[in-house]
Amino acid sequence: MKLLVFPCDCETDLEKFMLIEKLGVEVVGASSSKGNHFLGKDSLFLPYISDPCFWDEFVEVVSSNSITNVYTGHAGVWGIFKEHEHQLEKDLGVFLSSEYPFDIEWNRFEKHFVWGQHLFDKLQKCGLDKRFSVEQVASLCMNYNQIPGQSDNQKLEALIYLAQDIPDGDWVEIGSLYGKSAYALGILASHFGNSSLICIDPWDIKEIKPQEGKAAVLDAQADIIDVSKIFAIFKSSISLLKNVTYIQSSSEKALPKYLEGVFDGLTVPASKQIAFLHIDGNHHFDEVTKDIKLWEPHVCVGGWIAVDDYLWAFGDGPRRAGDNLLQTGRFDIAYVAGDTLYMRKAICD
Ligand SMILES: C[S@@+](CC[C@H](N)C(=O)[O-])C[C@H]1O[C@@H](n2cnc3c(N)ncnc32)[C@H](O)[C@@H]1O
Repeated sequence: MKLLVFPCDCETDLEKFMLIEKLGVEVVGASSSKGNHFLGKDSLFLPYISDPCFWDEFVEVVSSNSITNVYTGHAGVWGIFKEHEHQLEKDLGVFLSSEYPFDIEWNRFEKHFVWGQHLFDKLQKCGLDKRFSVEQVASLCMNYNQIPGQSDNQKLEALIYLAQDIPDGDWVEIGSLYGKSAYALGILASHFGNSSLICIDPWDIKEIKPQEGKAAVLDAQADIIDVSKIFAIFKSSISLLKNVTYIQSSSEKALPKYLEGVFDGLTVPASKQIAFLHIDGNHHFDEVTKDIKLWEPHVCVGGWIAVDDYLWAFGDGPRRAGDNLLQTGRFDIAYVAGDTLYMRKAICD
């Protein structure tokens, strides 16, 4: 089997073709601009489909390169292949291996739209639908899922509900990684509260302590991860959000900087009163306990704290630390959604 991808310069989902190669199928790209590369190899040349020579040259290229399958993400090219599908198969032994490109695009978007519609229906039943449209929910879901990370759609749903109940004040996230939850928090903080989000993470392997126990399997990755690449993706993830900044330090070292308003990213307004605190840094019991001890006193009355991975397959640090916090009696609402514990600092009447 040998797959020809044309035009290869339109393809962004390279992982798909890398996987196909890993599965033993040779993949070669073709382009109408000369000197192109695809998957680290020189691309073949084919004229534009508007060129009268296109079909003859295409036949020559597939024959002389022993091509068995063709893939295209271009609707015009697909139309030509579809029109000649019978001839392709019968005369050249070549099979069209891609769906109609507009269907592919819709399939890619549809799951986010369906998710958005489903959530919107639920928001509507609670009377919470007035400030967020279906399209906005779908867009948030789609862009959030483009960012690598460790937050899922259950987290996004819980944050969308909660965002409507957060008082005025800063949003702070401890542990941002690539910026997946930060992206959602940043959008929600500006959409519902006109608030700033301050992300805290050392993005430096020397500053990150082991999580130990069952999480030792995760700690073992520390030596091979290039954190500077994670940091580069984080900065890009939040770069268009004008209300989001970061402090590149451990949560302990970041607290005085936050209180002084010293940020490593954009200068954003900060009230030094935390309205929402997302604790998603080191999950070792001692570290979550420390994050809580340092940061919880700065959460305002009526503000919320979320302890991520309260339910966690790799340990019980967040659960034990979260339970200890609950036992202080300083919270009037607490619930678990997905893997996360949410608590509201008691409003005294
Ligand atoms: C579970 S990941 C965060 C996932 C992220 N919120 C997401 O949505 O994908 C944990 C992050 O905590 C960071 N971290 C580890 N120790 C920390 C500390 N002491 N203070 C702040 N962040 C820490 C790590 O660098 C890592 O990026």
